[in-house]
Amino acid sequence: GPSGVFRADEALVPRGTVDTDHAGHSGAGFVNLENTQGSYAEWTVRAAAASTASLELRYANGSAADRPMDISVNGTRIAAGRAFPPTANWDTWATAALPVSLKAGANTVRFTSTTADGGPNLDRITVR
Ligand code: GCU
Repeated sequence: GPSGVFRADEALVPRGTVDTDHAGHSGAGFVNLENTQGSYAEWTVRAAAASTASLELRYANGSAADRPMDISVNGTRIAAGRAFPPTANWDTWATAALPVSLKAGANTVRFTSTTADGGPNLDRITVR
């Protein structure tokens, strides 16, 4: 099946930035989504053939509350308001995984903030 690591600087982030001011991110930076409902980060994942994969998101949430996001693949929402719980501080990263169905060719994977607080900070996604 498809595999790969997709870093913050490879994401489309129309309402947010790629920042470096918290330790522990794995690449050039991490995605800091705008603190507003609807801000999102989107990666394009290429698969040679249609397949089921595990999608793992590495994130940090230094706030005291969950930072829920919708997760969609190719425009279809596969998780609604999934909770990303606090990770103690913005330098502490956690991973969350879910199964995804990919088609052959380019797939879009999007994480969308569902509350006015915005999503957590996003370091990378791993597909395996
Ligand atoms: C802080 C933190 C940011 C984070 C933001 C948030 O400002 O430094 O990295 O994105 O909180 O609440 O989302």
